[in-house]
Amino acid sequence: SSSLPTFSQEEVTKHRSLDDGVWVTYRGGVYDITEFVAMHPGGDKIMLAAGGALEPFWALYAVHNEKHVLDILSEYKVGEL
Ligand code: HEM
Repeated sequence: SSSLPTFSQEEVTKHRSLDDGVWVTYRGGVYDITEFVAMHPGGDKIMLAAGGALEPFWALYAVHNEKHVLDILSEYKVGEL
């Protein structure tokens, strides 16, 4: 359970730039990763997922299948999808 708000996919899709904020989804969670973009070890590639799901990209870049990556992501959770 979570006390965080629920967002529609449409709302998430509005956040795909540093100006509007960069939101992504993962396993039903919504994450505002705007502040993380500049810190991403993989550089600008992270913007390919802006406004959408991480799963297809993380399936390609298996470096993310580690607990320490999910720990980082969890810090940015803002809601549920
Ligand atoms: C590497 C986090 C999204 C591509 C990494 C690493 C972290 C990270 C922590 C370093 C992993 C390690 O070396 O142990 C994240 C987070 C993301 C995200 C928290 C989303 C919120 C993406 C996306 C892509 C991507 C969407 C591709 C479209 C890469 C690549 C590397 C990388 C290519 C390897 C960089 C290198 O070692 O040269 N990411 N990532 N990442 N990420 Fe991401």
